[in-house]
Amino acid sequence: MGKNKKTSVTTKLSKPNKSSKKTLVSGSINSSKCTAINKTKTLKNKKINFLDESGEILKKCLTKKVNLKNLIYSKNIQNQKKNLLKIITQTLKFKKPLQIIIKNSNLLAEEKSLDEHVALLLTYQLLFFRGLKEFGYYKKIVLKHKETLRKELLNLKNKMGVIKNEDLIDEKFRIEDDIPRYVRVNKLKASMEEVINVFKAQGYELINPDISLFEDGAKVINSFKNLKSKTFMRDIHLNDLLIFSKNTDFHDNKLLLNGSIILQDKASCFPAYILNPPKGSHIIDCCAAPGNKTSHLASIIDNDGRIFAFDHSERRLQTLNALIKKAGCSSVTSSCENFLNVDPNDEIYKDVEYILLDPSCSGSGIVSRMDLLISQQDHKDEVEDLDSLEKLKEEEEMARLKSLADFQLECILHCFKFPNIKKICYSTCSVNTIENEEVVMKALSQNKNFQLCEKKKVLDTWKNRGLNTFQDSEKMLRSYPEQDFTIGFFVALFEKIEM
Ligand SMILES: C[S@@+](CC[C@H](N)C(=O)[O-])C[C@H]1O[C@@H](n2cnc3c(N)ncnc32)[C@H](O)[C@@H]1O
Repeated sequence: MGKNKKTSVTTKLSKPNKSSKKTLVSGSINSSKCTAINKTKTLKNKKINFLDESGEILKKCLTKKVNLKNLIYSKNIQNQKKNLLKIITQTLKFKKPLQIIIKNSNLLAEEKSLDEHVALLLTYQLLFFRGLKEFGYYKKIVLKHKETLRKELLNLKNKMGVIKNEDLIDEKFRIEDDIPRYVRVNKLKASMEEVINVFKAQGYELINPDISLFEDGAKVINSFKNLKSKTFMRDIHLNDLLIFSKNTDFHDNKLLLNGSIILQDKASCFPAYILNPPKGSHIIDCCAAPGNKTSHLASIIDNDGRIFAFDHSERRLQTLNALIKKAGCSSVTSSCENFLNVDPNDEIYKDVEYILLDPSCSGSGIVSRMDLLISQQDHKDEVEDLDSLEKLKEEEEMARLKSLADFQLECILHCFKFPNIKKICYSTCSVNTIENEEVVMKALSQNKNFQLCEKKKVLDTWKNRGLNTFQDSEKMLRSYPEQDFTIGFFVALFEKIEM
């Protein structure tokens, strides 16, 4: 007790330094050591350690690309997880403007002992999240730089011509707040009715979707926004999908833990649904990890058939293996292989008639994944001003897109080589034409034995189609976060022309 009391008094006055960290090992207590002790113990004293703890987590996410949710939920911290998740996610969303403000205010140059990740969190809380009082021993720093930071925020807003703080965030991160949670029912483990009944028993209320809502984007958004916590509805396009309010937490739900449900964005359910292989089929999933679409295929064929799942990343394939095991996908054989090296004439693939191709893409349509926030380029040294940052991004981005599109085209052409192929579903979670319609048109022009399937086989109830500057655009499908409340997505279904 006495120790804790002494610590809390000291930490309000002193800031962490390297020497205090070292002395931790000795275990003796004096005023300068108390701060370090606080830092290493788990969050017993919320007010004192919150920033250090979240700074550490943020640093791990950004430098080691560790999954934020996993990191937080693996920590032994009581009653803090939701708070931490919220603060860190929000800080990541504001990362770009925050970096500019911090750089222009000289905060890190003047406060050498201040960790850059703590500085991001600190500045975020000061400028954008006034409600929380977690400054602890950083209070002095905050007060010293408060005016400069606020001034730099104003300068940035003026420069960008925005009024509200939220307008500083990339549009795709703002849309995220409107996207509901989609839950796919894994029919290998439980039927739709069984899953609905379990949710009802857990206190969720099933509400009937008003079908007309789905025809009017403006109403849909209100319908999702008004989807209260603990209510859910069935999706009208996909028969194995449920929709929950955006804040629903499933992490310890038994249906998720036992593989009966899979959290998967609606648009990402399109490829397997549209490919729709019949029971008994042999199917290839070319770029399969982490395995959401593979497990969807297994659910559609009810494990009656064979699915060959490839991925060239050992690490990602491990995730796929864990997912298919949990989801009970006994029809799947996974291999760590470069799909482009898979021999189409190998005896083993002679009965393959369906291919799902969901290759690496720019991910420009992704709005709600944490790793997007984390994989944003860290332009620490270049944040002189927004113009140079944007220019640098554009050049890098064009080169990256070109190389992705070349790879995507090569994959489609490789799929065409399988001797008994009937249908190939090509998809990306990108909104860039160069990775979508352009790749499809190039593929068709290079192999005249294939065509796009008729619209009626490509979810024809879905409104947003391919860009109409391209031939057969109606036969392709697109989704847009701001209209469809899914990630941005593209699907094209090829079929072999019968001779
Ligand atoms: C968009 S992700 C696939 C997502 C997956 N379809 C799902 O729904 O879970 C693309 C995957 O392609 C893999 N990949 C990239 N190039 C590959 C190649 N040449 N051969 C096999 N896999 C590849 C990546 O490792 C990544 O896991």
